[in-house]
Amino acid sequence: MRGTLVICPELDSLNQEAARRFLAAVEASSAQEPFRLALAGGSTPRRFYELLASPEWSEKIPWARLHVFWGDERLVPRNHRESNYRMAHEALLARVPLPMPNIHPVMMEAAPQTTADVYEQELRAHFKQARGVPAFDLILLGLGEDAHVASLFPDAPTLDERQRLVAAHKPGGRNLPRVTFTLPLINAARRVFFLVAGANKALALRHALRTGGRLPAQRVAPKKGELVWFVDSGAASGLESFQVEPPASKEAAS
Ligand code: 6PG
Repeated sequence: MRGTLVICPELDSLNQEAARRFLAAVEASSAQEPFRLALAGGSTPRRFYELLASPEWSEKIPWARLHVFWGDERLVPRNHRESNYRMAHEALLARVPLPMPNIHPVMMEAAPQTTADVYEQELRAHFKQARGVPAFDLILLGLGEDAHVASLFPDAPTLDERQRLVAAHKPGGRNLPRVTFTLPLINAARRVFFLVAGANKALALRHALRTGGRLPAQRVAPKKGELVWFVDSGAASGLESFQVEPPASKEAAS
């Protein structure tokens, strides 16, 4: 298995543990440097973002030092119900004192590839790194039921992208076009935290934790960084070796 597996009884305790480790990471970073955070999309992280915005946590976080990016985005207007920006804005950004210049949403351009290229340029300009692969302090990821991460889907050509930091995902049909961090950028992060909840993710998690596979989640392996899987008991229910056996009855033993 790659990384550290943290199994929590349910989503609230998972989010509390993830918040604790997030704050520890911020506090361990240099107070003179920005802390660069990439948000995950989808629905699982919403309550984590709401927790960070709650007085219990918000008052402990040095928001002015944080810079927020998106690990992936659907190419829809920011007020669209499918927008990852909209979800993060509602759950977190509208509720904490994060300066506007520190928020780096994906800017929609005419074509998905142009959108990806512009976002990569913004990211490189922020890190002052015209070449090489910048290191995020923390990248948050969810896990799809097909073991996709960000908008890197099984067998998609974007999985094999080695040069770009941000790629366009053009699924065709009724599926939304997206832009996504690529594996080189994800695997350059100082920390990658997965937030995975629900029994519907049990099979994907079981595969994701295996090494050597070709599934997107199996290819998240930070070169030097820390990888932590925050999962609830539903998502962990497919991990035989983590089954919690009921205590044996004393009567049965006699
Ligand atoms: C997206 C997400 C995506 C998400 C997984 C899990 O924009 O769709 O980045 O990778 O993390 O699909 O989504 P849920 O948390 O909604 O199950």
